Amino acid sequence: MDHFLYKNGALHAEDVPLADIAAEVGTPFYVYSSATLLRHFRLFDEALEGMDHLVCYAMKAASNQAILKTLAEAGAGMDVVSIGEYLRAKAAGVPGDKIVFSGVGKTVEEMCIAVEGGIRQFNVESEPEMELLSAVAQSLGKVVPITVRVNPDVDAKTHAKIATGKSENKFGIPISRAREVYAMAAALPGLEVIGIDVHIGSQLTELEPFELAYNKVAELTETLRADGHDIRRLDLGGGLGIPYERSNTAPPLPTEYGALIKKTLGHLGCEIEIEPGRLIAGNAGLLVSSVIFVKSGEGRDFLILDAAMNDLIRPAMYDAWHDIVPVIEPEAGVEQQPYDVVGPVCESGDTFAKQRNLPPLASGDLVAFRSAGAYGAVMSSEYNTRPLIPEVLVKDNQFAVIRQRPSFEDMINRDTIPSWL
Ligand code: LLP
Repeated sequence: MDHFLYKNGALHAEDVPLADIAAEVGTPFYVYSSATLLRHFRLFDEALEGMDHLVCYAMKAASNQAILKTLAEAGAGMDVVSIGEYLRAKAAGVPGDKIVFSGVGKTVEEMCIAVEGGIRQFNVESEPEMELLSAVAQSLGKVVPITVRVNPDVDAKTHAKIATGKSENKFGIPISRAREVYAMAAALPGLEVIGIDVHIGSQLTELEPFELAYNKVAELTETLRADGHDIRRLDLGGGLGIPYERSNTAPPLPTEYGALIKKTLGHLGCEIEIEPGRLIAGNAGLLVSSVIFVKSGEGRDFLILDAAMNDLIRPAMYDAWHDIVPVIEPEAGVEQQPYDVVGPVCESGDTFAKQRNLPPLASGDLVAFRSAGAYGAVMSSEYNTRPLIPEVLVKDNQFAVIRQRPSFEDMINRDTIPSWL
């Protein structure tokens, strides 16, 4: 459930009409609902009730500091994958001991900043990373807590570009080599081995792949404990999918996911961490755009919007579906018609949807892309010298711009011309 509903014929974010935000901020823009963010975070938190746990929001999904602060105040930790994310989380007030550092390619600089600034744990993904991290920690006079990310060779049954748990993927160490890698980690003086990490992919719509992976993690926990490792924390990654297409069947709920965790891993007495991103932010955000033109093509009508692939890359990159709805509620019984919904960028890939049924729309009308809160703003670019679009956060009947649209002057002045020109 989210908090984007029609009230009196107009789509609202909580108690704010989207048209009011559009009038003040201009389109396109992203808008997030605080209540939805918090609701989704709490669903996970409650699903793990009874187990020692921390929900570490995967901030790659949507990393505006206002979003981070909203979740952190409710008790969330953060999963970061770069030192930029680490510093952003810190700036939003998240303490180091609630920040988990994931990722296959951490550099010396990144390690130094995180070790010095404080970290809950590093999720280490390779032997060379282990050696380097141990050396960095030692040079700073520290011993850092780590888990090793294992690759369980499980098919997540999701889009190939976001599957991470098969042996051909670059992530983690093969679970078959885990004992030897853990032995090596335990012998490194700068590291304290505290647990196991696993993440098999994103937008999973079934529980079965999680179950396969978590059973393997349970078995590995027993094996590593028998080898003498004090495995006390399990980081289970993120990945639970969201219903992008409302007319389709829905993925499992966080409660069902929590029950699976208890069933597969509850007996081990470990502290549980999870790293959900999409399920917390995805349906907590919309992309709102205006129709520039309706253009008649050969046998089809194009709805040309002021948002484009640089603002929301998911359809172009993953053939992703986003529900598109008019901001003014259509009259009951109004006949829908198919549109190709496109942006103004100069490539045919700049297509959000083909032959999408929508009520008749005209120049100036507002439309909203649902489920755009995760991997939306964070993946945007300035392609075609289009400014990054504003982000707005709503809470009840208030809204605030949480990222300004840059001026063209700001954008242009970021370039510098070499002396020889
Ligand atoms: N933990 C790790 C180590 C991850 O790599 C990811 C996502 C997550 C947690 C969060 O997964 P989530 O709960 O959000 O599924 N840009 C793509 C999604 C990329 C996901 C990358 N890793 C998209 O727009 O679909």
